[in-house]
Amino acid sequence: MKVDLLQMVEYGGCSAKISPKQLEEILKYLPLPRDPNILVDIDTHDDAGVYKVNDDLALVLTTDFFPPVCSDPYEFGQIAAANSISDVYAMGGDPVLALNIMMFPAAKLPMEAYADILKGGFDKATEAGVRIIGGHTINDFPPKYGLAVVGYVHPEKVITNAGAKPGDSLILTKPIGTGVILAGHRLGMVSDDDLTEAKRLMKLLNKSGAEVMKKHNIRGATDITGFGLAGHALKMARASRVSLVIKMKDVLFIGNSYHLIDDGCIPGASFRNLEYAEKDIDFASDLDYNLKMLAFDAQTSGGLLFSAPPEKVKNILEDLKNAGLSESREIGLAIPFEGKFLYL
Ligand code: CO
Ligand code: CO
Ligand code: CO
Repeated sequence: MKVDLLQMVEYGGCSAKISPKQLEEILKYLPLPRDPNILVDIDTHDDAGVYKVNDDLALVLTTDFFPPVCSDPYEFGQIAAANSISDVYAMGGDPVLALNIMMFPAAKLPMEAYADILKGGFDKATEAGVRIIGGHTINDFPPKYGLAVVGYVHPEKVITNAGAKPGDSLILTKPIGTGVILAGHRLGMVSDDDLTEAKRLMKLLNKSGAEVMKKHNIRGATDITGFGLAGHALKMARASRVSLVIKMKDVLFIGNSYHLIDDGCIPGASFRNLEYAEKDIDFASDLDYNLKMLAFDAQTSGGLLFSAPPEKVKNILEDLKNAGLSESREIGLAIPFEGKFLYL
């Protein structure tokens, strides 16, 4: 039996996250633990928590899991693992250990599909140098998979949402549009080439991008996932207390995603992301609808967005290219706070 995981879900990948607005509602009831060794907590909406063990070592802790973004179980496992591990890279950490998190409808799918998802996750984790040493499974529909990941970072070398400084340039390491491409694929409107490219990008680890960030002592970064480029940039601007200016015309998109917006290929998550963020954003009068909706497109396993001193940008882009990330682009800059956190 050929398994098609997409038959089982309405929203897959990071598009299935609850809305940022609901998340804020829930989190306000959650007390924050106090401990001087907690270096990064939920307060800055960072990609992962960071806990100092001693003067030379801090732990980076994160978890992500979601419903299928593609038909093939093995590829789904690879994408889910790359996405989970990415939050450690976004914090400047080296991922080391992981646990599988798996929800699987045992009566609805053959066991081979279950094994293939785990194999995809294992292979991607191995590529990242991560050892999966356990996990937990629940019988549940639709299937969901991801990892809880632990990484190491030097306590003084943590990269956070709060590290962008006025004058910094913004660099994005992967094209965006996975949400649009996946929505279009469901409607039968996406070419095989565009789908293959979206899957390649989702499987691509942010490892090499993170190595370039570390080489250049970058202090401000996040990865682009469910809240879209604009949503994650907004979190970075707020945490850094700066305004970010993003030039959507300089952002690269996957394949035909710009035109797919005209055909209505806009996942519901984009509208939720827009609704949450728009009060903090100034939209340029010449920003067209397609660029605007792409800014809010929920990415699954998207690239790194980081801030860097402008004089380093040329060398950084060169290093990213040599690391296989030739689609990295300078897409904007950080300025002193000017009334809105984000200018698009
Ligand atoms: Co993240
Ligand atoms: Co995450
Ligand atoms: Co971060």
